Order: sequence, then structure tokens, then C-alpha cells
Amino acid sequence: MGDFLITIYFWTKSLHIIAVLTWMAGIFYLPRIFVYHVERAGVGSETDDIFKVMEMKLYRYIMNPSIIAVWVFGLMLVFTPGVVDWSSLWPYTKGIAVIAMTWFHMWLGARRRDFLAGTNSRSGRTYRMMNEVPTLLMLVIVFSVVLKF
Ligand code: HEM
Repeated sequence: MGDFLITIYFWTKSLHIIAVLTWMAGIFYLPRIFVYHVERAGVGSETDDIFKVMEMKLYRYIMNPSIIAVWVFGLMLVFTPGVVDWSSLWPYTKGIAVIAMTWFHMWLGARRRDFLAGTNSRSGRTYRMMNEVPTLLMLVIVFSVVLKF
């Protein structure tokens, strides 16, 4: 198994990075849609319905498949012999930041369901501020995996 994972290492890493790109596209875009949804569309309006469809398609068809692919290829990299040195710090900083990013994904999913039910209680300002969370996590993740401190 280990030998096989070594053979496909560059494929796995390429697919991991591609999945990261599509996941991050959604992670950064969905809160921006929420900002416009809360500030520009009254509950029950035609615009409200358009935003709900946009949010559903982004979350269900882009973000959910992407997060699964990121985890699958990421864990394949973890199990590839020689890739992770557990005596270093970076696997732990990356791991914590990735778990936090996964929590953020779930949080966005819960907020999407609020909008769907017409019960969103958060302001545009809250969504603007929450947009900074994945930015900080992305910095920690990329510095961890590239600098390998
Ligand atoms: C979800 C769970 C994740 C796991 C288990 C995971 C694990 C890994 C592992 C073990 C590597 C291999 C490092 C190497 O080959 O030296 C890697 C590479 C990489 N990961 Fe992740 N990762 C995950 C999520 C993410 C996320 C969310 C991002 C970005 C936001 C990310 C960005 C990268 C990048 C850019 C590389 C390539 C680094 C390089 O080639 O130097 N990963 N990942």
C-alpha cells in the first residue's frame, strides 16, 4: 500500500491542490453572497429566491464535493511514506487549521439553512467579519505545509 501511494504521490498532491482551490473558491464566495443576501433581499422577495438557489448550488455542487476530495487526497498524502514527519510542528498547526476550516464550512452550511428558512439573524457586518476567518486559516495552512517548520 505504501509503495503504491509513493508511486501516485504527484497525482495525489495535484488532485489535493485542485480540490483545495475549488473548496477555497466557495469558502470565500459564499459569505460574500450572504452579505448581499442580507443587505439587498427582503425575505420572500424574488431576489431572496435567486440568492437561495445560488447558495444551494455553490454549497451542494461545489463546496461539498470539494471538501470530500480535499480530505480524501489530503489523508492519502498523510499515509504516503516519508511525507509527514510527526516530530515537526507543521502537521499539528496544519491539522488544527484544517479542522477549523472544516468547522467554518459547517457553519456556512448552517447559515445557508437559516436563509432557506427565512430565519437569518446575522448582519452583513457579521458575514464580512467572518470572511476573515478562512483568510487567517489559509495563511497558517500554506505556511505550515510549505515552510515545514
Ligand atoms: C482536509 C485535510 C487536509 C489534509 C489531511 C492535508 C494534508 C496534506 C499533506 C500531508 C500534504 C503533503 C505535503 C508534502 O507533500 O510535503 C499536503 C499538501 C498541501 N496541502 Fe493539504 N491537507 C488538507 C487540507 C488542505 C487545505 C484546506 C489547504 C489549503 C487551504 C491545503 C493546502 C495544501 C497545499 C498547497 C499543499 C502542497 C504543499 C507542497 O507541495 O509543498 N491542504 N496536504
